[in-house]
Amino acid sequence: MTLASTGALLFSAQPALASGTIPESSPSTPANSLAETYSNTYIQAPTYQASAEEIKKWPWLDSSLTPEARAELLVNAMNEDQLIHMLHGYSSLTGIRLKPGGPPSIGYIRPIPELRVPALVMSDGPSGLRNGEPATALPAPITQAASFNRELAQEYGKTIAQDSADRGQDLIFGPGFNLARNPQAGRTFEYFGEDPFLSGTIAAHNVRGLQSAGIMATLKHYVANNQETNRTQNNSQMDQRTLHEIYEMPFRYAIRESQPAAVMCAYNKINGDTACGSKKTLVDDLRGLHKFGGFVVTDYPAAWSPLDIKNGLNVELPGGFWTSKAKITRAVAKGQMTWDEIRGRVRETLTQMFRFGLFDHPWDEKLNDRQRDIKPVDAERGNQVAQRAVEEGAVLLKNDGILPLGKTFEGKPVKRVLVVGSGAKKPMSGGGSSNVTSPVSSDSAIDALAKRLGKDVQIDYKSQWDPVGIKKAAAKADYVLVFATQISTELIDRPNLDFLPHMNNAVKAAAAGNPNTVVVVQAGGPVLMPWLNDVRGVLDVFYPGQAAGEATVRLLTGEVNPSGRLPQTFPATNSQFPANTRAQFPGAKLGFEARYTEGIMMGYRWYTTMGQKPAFPFGYGLSYTTFEVSEPTLAASSGQADQPVTVSVQVKNTGERAGAVAPQVYVKKPSVRGIQTPVRELVAFDKVTLQPGESKTLTMKVDPMQLSVWNDSTKQYQVTPGKYRFVSGLNVEEVKGNATYTVR
Ligand code: BGC
Repeated sequence: MTLASTGALLFSAQPALASGTIPESSPSTPANSLAETYSNTYIQAPTYQASAEEIKKWPWLDSSLTPEARAELLVNAMNEDQLIHMLHGYSSLTGIRLKPGGPPSIGYIRPIPELRVPALVMSDGPSGLRNGEPATALPAPITQAASFNRELAQEYGKTIAQDSADRGQDLIFGPGFNLARNPQAGRTFEYFGEDPFLSGTIAAHNVRGLQSAGIMATLKHYVANNQETNRTQNNSQMDQRTLHEIYEMPFRYAIRESQPAAVMCAYNKINGDTACGSKKTLVDDLRGLHKFGGFVVTDYPAAWSPLDIKNGLNVELPGGFWTSKAKITRAVAKGQMTWDEIRGRVRETLTQMFRFGLFDHPWDEKLNDRQRDIKPVDAERGNQVAQRAVEEGAVLLKNDGILPLGKTFEGKPVKRVLVVGSGAKKPMSGGGSSNVTSPVSSDSAIDALAKRLGKDVQIDYKSQWDPVGIKKAAAKADYVLVFATQISTELIDRPNLDFLPHMNNAVKAAAAGNPNTVVVVQAGGPVLMPWLNDVRGVLDVFYPGQAAGEATVRLLTGEVNPSGRLPQTFPATNSQFPANTRAQFPGAKLGFEARYTEGIMMGYRWYTTMGQKPAFPFGYGLSYTTFEVSEPTLAASSGQADQPVTVSVQVKNTGERAGAVAPQVYVKKPSVRGIQTPVRELVAFDKVTLQPGESKTLTMKVDPMQLSVWNDSTKQYQVTPGKYRFVSGLNVEEVKGNATYTVR
């Protein structure tokens, strides 16, 4: 008997929110709000109306019409050359200007002045505006996921958008949120960890922030783009359940909850088809199943055929190699594609351009483009968010009573402190297209510390390359701070999870000289810490961005109480993780065929189901206070498959400082008819600040989408009738309760 024949409820993603306008002040989504319709209404009501004379000539300039109606008028007025023009951009990975005086960018579609079509100006990226010019360098995007705070992710996205608006941008290539299938993956720092629900939720809020400030967001990289090794050739090979339940799920969720303007299709193949040329991936799944209503751009350069357009691609980047006039007209002449199909793709792009008000500006005759107000970014505004993001997202991994640090240590005034490692002077950042080249501001932890400790305290500094000097200096200090840095970057997967040997030696030397050693980790993802038992404290700040110094020192001194949680498991060894065979990662056939044979048992789903104990579990993070979280209680003990489940937990601050806590609710779905389900799957979380002694009851709605499994016979997500068991806790391993809910 198949799942379909059990009468289980089948459902597809509903088109998202009723209005395309997400007010700036909109509260972050209550735990799992259910959005209703994908809307292409205006993101911000048009404030500019073209003259009657202009509208007569170019009727699509009439801003009283809907974006869809305007796109329809325009696409029907376009000749073949103009249609082809809209199928590709002009780009440079280091930055390019439309014209002198025009906006900087990483790529753009040129304007069509005779039709009054403005340029579509695009830049990277997920950690801040990147196009070779100054902008706010936010901490690594993974920090948003580690904050477990929807509102922070929204603020982060909005900051990128405000910088982008200042610099005359239309679209940002971000957020990126491919799942961290393997902890060695080079771009882990750019993404949102290993859980589809956390990842999709953070992405949705990041998009809301971006789009609330009028900038188009691009979800990337769709889909199953989980490694850098052979990234443009690799074939991600997996069953349909894994593809839908794990790798497409965050996109599905973010599309429904935030209506992004764009999606960037990935370099890799999925089960043999290129991501940017697969009808199944881009039309059947993305637009059909997940109800995406925007346009698709290629990663640079991920198109492989003019027919990619027919199969769901809208814009080829960086140039028009496959979508040149010759190739497109030849494909049409051969009967492989029709002008109507091309018109359909161009209409999808234009609808978003209208939705975001790109046409509703006076025309600049000199630039031959719309007018843009280009000014320097507001450095102060961005810096505040950059700092706050580190303060919310840094994860305290160990504290053997040493932190917070201050002017006194173990009852005596501090006289001398040793700081080790270049990360204390210049923080490490991740490499590749998300790296903001010229941060508008910078600071350093060593300066921020000196400011706190005052001139009576001597701060010594040693480089990480000098173990002998470190050990000697450590012995003379009251306490030691080692900044342990580890690079990771786009294009290269890490060979293992180790720090480089000199870095481990630096920590060991410090700890040998002085047991009162605290390590500040600046790394893009999981690292092994062979010295963990020798040090008294570990704070992971990922790649902390331009406000690293202040934020790190505020966390170390307790001016801010750490509240980040790991969005990704930290394995105990270099092989303790799913996808740890060569055939799985980087793949069989010399790394060209990644076999996802671990299936849905990815990340903590694998650890909890296989009984593996990692170094630090998903959801883990310490605080300078203590919290207690109750067992979950359910508002009802049974319901229909399409109903959300209401879960409550009580959290109490049982310590002596105020602090923020992120309670998590996990479910065990029923395993029926051979469909194995993981022991635990995250279905709800929240974040709340509590004063000492304070307690609060948090009520969260579990979205049926999170309870569903993929049924490959019906090609639908479905919530299986049966018993669902809910537990709650402050990380995936330490959970309590067994609240049972029956789906009828
Ligand atoms: C990256 C994308 C990025 C693009 C443009 C590609 O190599 O994979 O994430 O947006 O370059 O810089």
